Amino acid sequence: MQNFVFHNPTKIIFGRDTVPNIGPETAELGRRCLLVYGRSSIRKTGLYDQVTTSLADAEVEIIDHGGVQSNPLLDHVRAGIAKVKEHSIDVVVAVGGGSVLDSAKAIAAGSVVNHDVWKFFTGKKSVKSTLPVTTVLTLAAAGSEMNSGMVITNNETKEKFGFGHRLLYPKTSILDPKVTFTVPPDYTAFGAIDAIAHVLEFYMTTRDPDTPVQDCLMEGLIKNSINACERCLKDPLDYEGRASLLWTATLALNGLTAAGLGRVGFPMHMIEHSLSALYNVPHGAGLSVVIPGWLTWYRKHNEARIAQLGRRIFPPADLQPYTDGRIAERTIIIFKNWFSRIDSPVSLEELGIPAADIPMIAENSLALARVWRLTDYSQETIEEILHLCR
Ligand code: NZQ
Ligand code: ZN
Repeated sequence: MQNFVFHNPTKIIFGRDTVPNIGPETAELGRRCLLVYGRSSIRKTGLYDQVTTSLADAEVEIIDHGGVQSNPLLDHVRAGIAKVKEHSIDVVVAVGGGSVLDSAKAIAAGSVVNHDVWKFFTGKKSVKSTLPVTTVLTLAAAGSEMNSGMVITNNETKEKFGFGHRLLYPKTSILDPKVTFTVPPDYTAFGAIDAIAHVLEFYMTTRDPDTPVQDCLMEGLIKNSINACERCLKDPLDYEGRASLLWTATLALNGLTAAGLGRVGFPMHMIEHSLSALYNVPHGAGLSVVIPGWLTWYRKHNEARIAQLGRRIFPPADLQPYTDGRIAERTIIIFKNWFSRIDSPVSLEELGIPAADIPMIAENSLALARVWRLTDYSQETIEEILHLCR
């Protein structure tokens, strides 16, 4: 186990009927908020009224900034920053999924500087201060509700980059599983796949051979992502299933799994972000294509690690015969078949992306590999992995 510092400052308020806490929690941080949300879901579900009533009751003035799209765009973040500066806003409230929460964090960071917010994403500027952020999460997936990261697409350059800073953890996040009852089956599946990817990347990229605590935690989170997703697909109103998926997705990327693993990376995300940036593929759908391809490539480097995971999370009957090589191969097939079973794509072809685009996609990913210092990934390596995703 490697040395580590684990400090997650986000207050989580979890459970039934917790949304009315957003007003008092935000009022402690500011008096005039920018309310950031998506396109239509929170209005349709009535959550918009619930949140704005709670904010008004707590005497927090609201400036509206709806319209965040999935795979959120830099232009919309810039427009939010302009509103914050125009109205002297002192707190940002995000109500939505990862796209909304990430936009809110980027607005909170960009509102207190005079340079373009994109400079944070390219590493040209670093965060010194931010506005506080509070959130109501509506979709179990990204983990943004309890981490310091955010991912934004630059509309002009078609780059989808992510960065994080300790000042950008949400102060409070409210997680009411009932709010996720309305998440459609596709985004229920995509969210579970995203949570699996967050854990899988750390599980596979750690170089420490002796991490039993973290391994058991990660194996449990992957197993639960699968089980909870299946419960929610069977019954979208299954409160315990939704609660389980919600908390699993949060724990999958709040820093706990990585504590003690040493240096880990996001190679699958590095490639998937290009699919989302270039083709507007939903993040989880891009990951269900990239995960099997990357694992097949990675098998050459560490098939014992893949076999260990397979042995510990899948029923032995599905894994015969028992050599590491065959188990690793079967493990990848089981993941791929499960993604298909929950109607998530497992090939570039299913996404309608031609193999002829692979060099261009790889070039796009390489730019992010450089920013994230993933030095093991060259243009050729990324192309090799993408060919395994066809
Ligand atoms: O826009 P609306 O109308 O709200 O609809 C949304 C959107 O179309 C809908 N939705 C959300 N909650 C709902 C709902 N529909 C019905 N009922 C509800 N309760 O779902 C659609 C997808 O929402 P989105 O926020 O895009 O999904 P997700 O939470 O998966 O977020 C994806 C974004 O998170 C980023 C991804 O890159 C992607 O941009 N990530 C952020 C990370 C982080 N901050 O740490 C890490 C992740 O790896 C990921 O990269
Ligand atoms: Zn992700």
